[in-house]
Amino acid sequence: MITASACAKMILCGEHAVVYGQPAIAVPVSDLRVMVSAKPAEQLMFTLADTGLQILDLAADAAITQIARLTLDALHIAPPPVEMHITSTIPVASGLGSGAAVSAAVARCLCQIAGKTLPVETINQLVYEVEKMHHGTPSGIDNTVIVYERPIYFVRNQAVEFISINTPLHFLIADTGIPAPTKISVGDVRRLYEHDPEKIQPILDAIGALVCDIQQQLQTGNAETIGALLTQNHQYLQQLTVSSPELDNLVNAALQAGALGAKLSGGGRGGNMLALVTPETLPTVKTALLAAGAVRVYETSLMGANKA
Ligand code: MEV
Repeated sequence: MITASACAKMILCGEHAVVYGQPAIAVPVSDLRVMVSAKPAEQLMFTLADTGLQILDLAADAAITQIARLTLDALHIAPPPVEMHITSTIPVASGLGSGAAVSAAVARCLCQIAGKTLPVETINQLVYEVEKMHHGTPSGIDNTVIVYERPIYFVRNQAVEFISINTPLHFLIADTGIPAPTKISVGDVRRLYEHDPEKIQPILDAIGALVCDIQQQLQTGNAETIGALLTQNHQYLQQLTVSSPELDNLVNAALQAGALGAKLSGGGRGGNMLALVTPETLPTVKTALLAAGAVRVYETSLMGANKA
């Protein structure tokens, strides 16, 4: 049995503005993963454990078959006779990158089956191609952080920069339980921007400026300042109309319970939010998030991630 996996991601700051060329920071969430296992079968087929869906036709118009076709082309091999079984602990359409993680894990599994390697950047490009088919105008941040599985400072169309994090930072990720496809919120921000660029551009610029501040603070390690900047980022995202009453409710609950900062993470409207906590405030903030309606709360930490 051949297996491969890929992690979830969390956008720390800069989502949406990153689509317009501003910087953003994203980190891997390695505890949440898509797993793919392959065993011999009559033909290449895919089974999805969560939905029970089985895809037998490689020509089918689905993200899984798209990444499979692209990877087989890049490897110059014919479809192998295997059943690829896909399981995931990443909630779908929730801002944690489940789609990109499925693509990355399928591509890695096919490389293993072929007994060949593809450069990480090639896998990143293939996953990005599939993201484009499903998300309209993605910046590329989701596939990049997932494929490299390292914290990144990301600017669209520029070489990826791996970042150092010099202080342990503890986060809670809380799920509103409301699925919210990124494509819709990204499209709405696009319409907002086109309708009134003079109003929206300063918001995008302000998000970019605070991402630069957070980047500096990650190195000097001031969690309080990072927290305040994250909360400010949430306020800008509210102005871009991508928050929701449920997300605002969780953000407020986290802050009232002592989080250093809180914001939505990813496309918004539903999906997940993050709260920066300390080991001391973590239990209280977690209880407050669950009491405020979070359907799931995950814990993740960033520490000592070094520059490339
Ligand atoms: C989604 O995880 C992040 C967005 O900025 C979209 C993108 O960058 O493609 C909302």
